[in-house]
Amino acid sequence: MSSLIQSPAWLALQAHQKVLAQQHLRNLFEKNPQRFNELSLQFDSILLDFSKQLIERDTVDLLINLAKQQQLSDWIKRMFSGDKINSTEHRAALHVALRGQDPVTVDGVDVMPEVRRVLKQMEKFSSEVQSGARVGYSGKMFTDIVNIGIGGSDLGPVMVTEALKPYRLPNITPHFISNIDGTQLADVLQHLNPATTLFVVASKTFTTLETITNACSAREWFISHGGSEKDIAKHFVAVSTNRSAVENFGINPDNMFEFWDWVGGRYSLWSAIGLPIALTIGMDHFYELLAGAHAMDQHFATAPLEKNLPVMLALVGVWQINFLGTAAHAILPYDQSMHRFPAYLQQLEMESNGKRITRDGEVVDYDTGAIVWGEPGTNGQHAFYQLLHQGTHNVSADFLAPCQSHHLIGVHHFMLLANFFAQTEALMSGKNASEVRTELESQHMDAKTIEQLLPHKIFPGNRLTTSILFKKLNPHTLGALIAMYEHKVFVQSVIWNINPFDQWGVELGKQLAGKILSELEQNAPVTSHDSSTNGLIDFFKSNQ
Ligand code: F6P
Repeated sequence: MSSLIQSPAWLALQAHQKVLAQQHLRNLFEKNPQRFNELSLQFDSILLDFSKQLIERDTVDLLINLAKQQQLSDWIKRMFSGDKINSTEHRAALHVALRGQDPVTVDGVDVMPEVRRVLKQMEKFSSEVQSGARVGYSGKMFTDIVNIGIGGSDLGPVMVTEALKPYRLPNITPHFISNIDGTQLADVLQHLNPATTLFVVASKTFTTLETITNACSAREWFISHGGSEKDIAKHFVAVSTNRSAVENFGINPDNMFEFWDWVGGRYSLWSAIGLPIALTIGMDHFYELLAGAHAMDQHFATAPLEKNLPVMLALVGVWQINFLGTAAHAILPYDQSMHRFPAYLQQLEMESNGKRITRDGEVVDYDTGAIVWGEPGTNGQHAFYQLLHQGTHNVSADFLAPCQSHHLIGVHHFMLLANFFAQTEALMSGKNASEVRTELESQHMDAKTIEQLLPHKIFPGNRLTTSILFKKLNPHTLGALIAMYEHKVFVQSVIWNINPFDQWGVELGKQLAGKILSELEQNAPVTSHDSSTNGLIDFFKSNQ
């Protein structure tokens, strides 16, 4: 058994769970009218309410003990000071420096002058594109930006440019190509004019198969649709840490925006990977996004643990996963513009904390990262909420919503939020047999039908949700929300003693795909794999 699950703080939480598991949230609310005040926190315009979690004040104290036992405060300091806490890759994890001001050193060198240099480069480039000082080969202004990247080099910019649509500048539209499936490339390019299209090839390593293949195909499309070799310099820029690979690809290093190995892919939207964001909403709004994240960083680094939003969000997650057996976690934004937020958090949480080996190289004997998925409300209500209300699996959920909408159309926003509040209340309180019976009797239903329907209409309740409300979805608030989740993931990794900044689990599939690609190009039947893989490959080949 690991020292974690034998530790005093862990055992205390296990004992506490046995008592609390007998309780129903509905009773806890009835017993304590102060529950919301005691179990919710605010920072800036963000309210975090975890009173609809199966948690009491004692639970918070015990979770804080666990955090202290795992030396959370030291780990936070280590991250902010540029320590190489990504131990398997011998790197710092310094995304906080991308939105910070203070000097911070890696290998004895202050990284801030470089951070500021690239921000200035982005500022100059994006303002030139937006003003028309930088134009395409025909002299016309750029109207379309195509970001070619995948994973962290795609999801952040897509999510932010969608979420901040109300802040988009006129006459410039972002597009995203990530999938190796040529369908996406074809779909995006068919509507574009090469003379007014700017490509941003975004890849930390500049070796990712999908991105390099898509970038090559985009270059061919550009040349075959009116551009020439010499125009490539005007229409293709790169964002990467790998200067030589960018040059080999044929992009002029003057058109390269650099970042550094201490920026993890899924933590990189604050770096030059955010270039499509700056191009789309303007650099001033990009700076506001950084400022929002920085404000959350300051809060995370200085607030007491029990008043600290990322810390409490993380500890509530640990409580759900390790003590209440809840493996699945839904992200449910009640804001259509946040429709890619669940996908973004899916990578952030699952690629970071989907680990089974501790920092000491041992196999864990406790659960780690949750299975994250989600859809915007109210769409999800008409798709998968049935399972949340009456299914057999334990599922937890974060509900997120702005108090103010950017689109004041009739009563839409009130209806949206009425659904948010109704769902979280219904999941918490449920509906018991006597309530169902009273309701059916009031509809003058006969006794036999009532007895038949009754079990189907009962809602057990006690379903765990956290509500996150914020005033308005502007760049500052979005920056703070994203940073809150980044730090949540880090806190959980500290509790679980795992490294959230590597991703070795994505390697095996990549290696095998390379080998299989050459087999697909040969005619002979394949025999080198298991019978299923051989059979599937041969079926595919015989259907070409
Ligand atoms: O899927 C693995 C991964 O390495 C992610 O962590 C990363 O965000 C993505 O691939 C893209 O990597 P790159 O930016 O190097 O192309």
